[in-house]
Amino acid sequence: MKNGKTYPAAITIFGAKGDLTRRKLIPALYNLYIGDHLPPVFCIYCVDYLAADQDAFRKELLDGVNEFSRSGKADPKKWAAFAAQVFYLQGDFMKASTYSTLKDQLEAFEAASGQRGTRLFYFAIAPRFIEIIAAAIYKQQLCNKVALDRIVIEKPFGTDLATAQQLNRYLGKRFSEKQLYRIDHYLGKETVQNIMAFRFANYVFEPLWNKKYIDHIQISVAEQVGVGKRGGYYDSSGALRDMIQNHLLQLLCIIAMECPGAYKAEMIRDAKTKVLKSVRPFASAQLFKNVIRGQYTAGEINDTEMPAYRKEEQVAANSNTETFTALRLFIDNDRWQGVPFFLRTGKSMFRQSSVIVIQFKDSPHKIFKDDIVPNRLIISIQPELEISLLFESKLPGLQMKLVPVEMDFTYQDAYTETLPEAYEALLLDVLHGDATLFMRADQVEAAWKVVMPILNAWKKYPAKQLHLYKAGTWGPAASNVLLKPYAKEWFRLPSGDAVKE
Ligand code: BG6
Repeated sequence: MKNGKTYPAAITIFGAKGDLTRRKLIPALYNLYIGDHLPPVFCIYCVDYLAADQDAFRKELLDGVNEFSRSGKADPKKWAAFAAQVFYLQGDFMKASTYSTLKDQLEAFEAASGQRGTRLFYFAIAPRFIEIIAAAIYKQQLCNKVALDRIVIEKPFGTDLATAQQLNRYLGKRFSEKQLYRIDHYLGKETVQNIMAFRFANYVFEPLWNKKYIDHIQISVAEQVGVGKRGGYYDSSGALRDMIQNHLLQLLCIIAMECPGAYKAEMIRDAKTKVLKSVRPFASAQLFKNVIRGQYTAGEINDTEMPAYRKEEQVAANSNTETFTALRLFIDNDRWQGVPFFLRTGKSMFRQSSVIVIQFKDSPHKIFKDDIVPNRLIISIQPELEISLLFESKLPGLQMKLVPVEMDFTYQDAYTETLPEAYEALLLDVLHGDATLFMRADQVEAAWKVVMPILNAWKKYPAKQLHLYKAGTWGPAASNVLLKPYAKEWFRLPSGDAVKE
């Protein structure tokens, strides 16, 4: 395998003036640089259509690093050395001249470094530009070395199955699948990667990880933020496309997949794709019983007034777009037959909390008088970073009295290292040519297939059962009904805060 560390790397970011570049990509690249993870010879070309002076642009990026980098404010010397390798190229994505200028720069960089190294093209752009830029870099032969050149594509990858298939075909005609890195930043999160380690490096759980011992599974990603300034994009997307089709289905895959033959990209991606292909298709007659959607109305979060979704910038005043989705699905294979998986995500909710709960079954044979709380494994992805196991214990004293207690592993207590950001892990993997944490074409399509019956039903009945919920609550009460008879309500980490419905 070509190792990005030893090859010079020319990184091109299309969409350099966008939020992603400032908030995530440049802070991630800077942290890789100061951690000595970037190749010794590298260069970052930032392309966008707005006019910008080189120094002013670098200053904008520095402000972004100072505000968003996990390592805090940039060290002036290190920043100066890093920024000297960052160049702004003003260019219209629609014009051939943009790509010929880029080509000249890439060739000059490679001539100076004495080697044709890795070329990484990051598409941090609106989806309408993907095909345009792909066609242009193909035509100019900028990305023609299969072993060295890579393209990173941000979500959304298509807006439904047909558009995703079309985009896959379009890219597939011009580039090898090996060169295409479809990003789902959840897969780069340290706590998400740790689920694989937890499942497959601890054999003790494997015999329990199935329908015989597991009652149900909840995967919940609650966000406190609303749509903010992204109303333009979000109003035509909604929670199902924005979060479920990608992030939550990927979490489902990691929880439900079979152990791959080896820790190798294709084997892992095969195992995940199998999960998606085994999800029982949603039957239209039951759809509104198995899928709940909601939209936030005005409310309060941390004593701050939050607007109703329909009053957000660039959102239609009569919008039926869902900002909350909860669903119940089943996986039709031997391991999971009959075990319900509950997925939920929403914006403007009571608090940020991404958790996966594995609820084990009650013991069929009871020898104690006390009611026993069945075992539960809780994997907290963010903001808490922990794994805990709930079990029964004898309360100290002269009687046999049982109480549930927790065994906890927290990152904070176990490690002193700060965790890398998802984008650092993912960018480094691309430089190393490791596609393990990226979505393959068939995986993206399989994920779209899962949600298509829901999209179709909502298209047919745009306003049917759109449950409104107040910002600052845990979403519509109807989503608790979905859990019956398995649970009364969605699991919440104890936060000490008053519960709001
Ligand atoms: C993005 C979605 O993919 O993920 C956003 O488009 C969402 O709407 C974000 O807020 C959540 O990511 P994180 O890392 O903050 O949980």
